[in-house]
Amino acid sequence: SNTDTTMRNASLLNALASKSQPLPPIFVEAEDQRPVLNLDVPESLAIPVVDMSRLSSPDPADRRALVTDIATACAQFGFFQVVHHGVDPALIQRCETEAHKMFELPLDVKERVHRPPQTSFGYGANTWVNQSVMHWAESFHMQLHPKSNIREFSGKLFAESDPTRFSSTVEEYMGQIEKLARELLELLTEGLGLEKDRFKHYVENERMMSMRFNLYPPCPQPELAIGLRAHTDPHLLTILHQDEVAGLQVFIDEQWVTVKPRPDCFVVNVGDLFQVLSNTRYKSVLHRAAVNGSSKRLSLACFLNPPLSATVEAPLELITAESPQVYRPFTWGEYLSNAYKFHPANGGERHERF
Ligand code: SIN
Ligand code: FE2
Repeated sequence: SNTDTTMRNASLLNALASKSQPLPPIFVEAEDQRPVLNLDVPESLAIPVVDMSRLSSPDPADRRALVTDIATACAQFGFFQVVHHGVDPALIQRCETEAHKMFELPLDVKERVHRPPQTSFGYGANTWVNQSVMHWAESFHMQLHPKSNIREFSGKLFAESDPTRFSSTVEEYMGQIEKLARELLELLTEGLGLEKDRFKHYVENERMMSMRFNLYPPCPQPELAIGLRAHTDPHLLTILHQDEVAGLQVFIDEQWVTVKPRPDCFVVNVGDLFQVLSNTRYKSVLHRAAVNGSSKRLSLACFLNPPLSATVEAPLELITAESPQVYRPFTWGEYLSNAYKFHPANGGERHERF
């Protein structure tokens, strides 16, 4: 029942907060899935850093170079980082401060927004269903649209203190991330040789963004645990901010590459839907989060989503004799309701092919 699940989550979440050894068995990851946090990344595997300030350059060659850098990274790694992205660094810091306050709330308060089983929004310790190993992480996942949703969330969590401080910070953050997301969508679209507005209709909707706050507490036996299992993001695009603690790893050339934290950057990655729209020119790549024994780690992930009813299909220009259509058309709603089944963590196929 739901109550049992909540109780179970509560005891697991308490385990997350304790320093006791050994690690409870439910957190012990399969041996071949355990991350090693290696910060020694060869130059050729480093996730490229792309300078977004070229967007405002009067020289059109600068925009073209920006588009090329992004398209190359999306094809090669499925990931890139953006610097001079236009989001106010002080606002990012405020948002991180609010996020920490949220994670520091007592468990019974956090449980007011608990994530029901088999759903993706709310507070919990796990992301995917049918998973036998628990993530060493807590997360809050919320819809950012309509804005009243953020206020409702904030009102429940901060009823006893200041119910609007959290929501007003997140609303402000969302506003700046949304602007960046629209710019990135245009740049990625141009990188496919298409008109920049070609996919605009996918984000003209009430629910275009959601946000997940991830907290990875210090782990008593980090070499045995996983913060977030290997997965691809199902959405169009993800815009992630990681704090100064390393943890994010991307699967490149058959190896796990750590993305060195750069708090002045956002990490951007192609989601499954963009891989489909690009007819696989852009790659939705496996990534995961490792944990460590000494520092808690916070990441803020914003996801760009089309409406549930939107049909996702590569445009005709990208379908040629040499590159035939890879995926059948499907709706985002259809994909989401099957995503768990297709998920590699659950032994499924990542995408439904012809
Ligand atoms: C994610 O994949 O959504 C989060 C990874 C991270 O915490 O860096
Ligand atoms: Fe992800």
